[in-house]
Amino acid sequence: MTSPTELTQEARNILTGNDRGGYTVPNGRVYPFQWNWDSVFVALGFATFDRDRAWTEIETLFDGQWDDGFMPHIIFWKDDDGYFPGSAIWGTNKDPKSSGITQPPVAATAIRWLYETAKTDDEKARASALYPKVLAWHRWFHEYRDPLGKGLVLSSHPWEGGRDNSPEWDAPAAQVDVSRVDPYVRRDTSHLDQSMRPTKLDYDRYLALVQFGREAGWNHDVIARENPFRMIDVGLTMILIRANKDLYALAKALGRDKDAEELRARIDLSEDGVNWLWNDDIGSFCSRDVISEKSSAMVTSASFLAFYAGVGSDVQRQRQLENLKRVSKAATYMVPSFDPEHEAFDSIRYWRGPSWAIVNFMVATGLREVGEEAWAEKVRLDNQKMMEKSGFYEAYCPIEGSGTGGDDFTWTAAMWLLWAAPDAPGVSNL
Ligand code: GLC
Repeated sequence: MTSPTELTQEARNILTGNDRGGYTVPNGRVYPFQWNWDSVFVALGFATFDRDRAWTEIETLFDGQWDDGFMPHIIFWKDDDGYFPGSAIWGTNKDPKSSGITQPPVAATAIRWLYETAKTDDEKARASALYPKVLAWHRWFHEYRDPLGKGLVLSSHPWEGGRDNSPEWDAPAAQVDVSRVDPYVRRDTSHLDQSMRPTKLDYDRYLALVQFGREAGWNHDVIARENPFRMIDVGLTMILIRANKDLYALAKALGRDKDAEELRARIDLSEDGVNWLWNDDIGSFCSRDVISEKSSAMVTSASFLAFYAGVGSDVQRQRQLENLKRVSKAATYMVPSFDPEHEAFDSIRYWRGPSWAIVNFMVATGLREVGEEAWAEKVRLDNQKMMEKSGFYEAYCPIEGSGTGGDDFTWTAAMWLLWAAPDAPGVSNL
């Protein structure tokens, strides 16, 4: 086993080694571009040893913002044929080249943490310069992704919520017509073990949805109304609620009172609206299909982000804690991305079981904030153990603690530096 000091050095080396000049790639071979929420978590890792570089990571990300506030999930700064689908398949015709779907809006939260621990006026100025861009993105969600008017978030593609292959998407994605998908060659399965990756049928559906968006000219109005996959994603929703609260705090700190009022109204709406996602049979918040109105009725690691969003009644919180306890009995390392007692659980296949440090960090943050300190610490220590045992993988088998997916993974290394290492500062002591 590698010592914590050596691991910290290794983690820093991964961040600097995956730096492509102002932005990092999640992993040089499997994901050779800038990914949206990856960059934000990576910025927090950089903040533990190079604050200037932390800000740059987020600034570069926002250089890819569209005029209407939309933030793409990938920015293709340089061409690389190691990843499919590349920029030509997305066909968004933007400069810089980017994809046409978004990803969980974690930026506001990270910027608030960096702002509150700022060491210089220059850092505060960088936060103020980013603020209107983040606000524009949050307004985009409100305008295009809240079809029910409840302050929840519509996902138009399994990749938007960042949990690509979760069993939550199996039934709704089965409704997607794949008969017109153009022939294609995947690149992920030439880098990684097939047993860990989505199946061919999953990929056909992903591509059919990209094709739909491209043919709609990435008109997000049309996508919100007619896209064949329209799920309210519990993860995206909880993350946006949390991010709206952090953006509200930033608005107040920056003297933007009118914006703060607007955000307050949106937060109030969502705090009530989340009940649409509550599944009383299983005692959990779950994703729910806008088309069929069916709840996935599945407990995932994203369900536990309700703590991070600070939503739910006392009774809902208790029932979610019961699920957390149940899950922890079936898993050695918390938090598996999917319910280990469900028949669709697969300990090594993408988002159907493996444990992701970034989600675990957010779950632990929420648990700590609602006073569940012992659970928060268990989650942190479990992640520390997985990293000590296996190094910095994309994700981990929650039973064995072995690495799954890509190695030398940037956001996992960042989570060691920020949160999981024995001497990690955590967000308030950056
Ligand atoms: C996978 C993950 C997604 C992540 C990306 C890069 O697609 O599902 O959440 O952003 O890899 O790490």
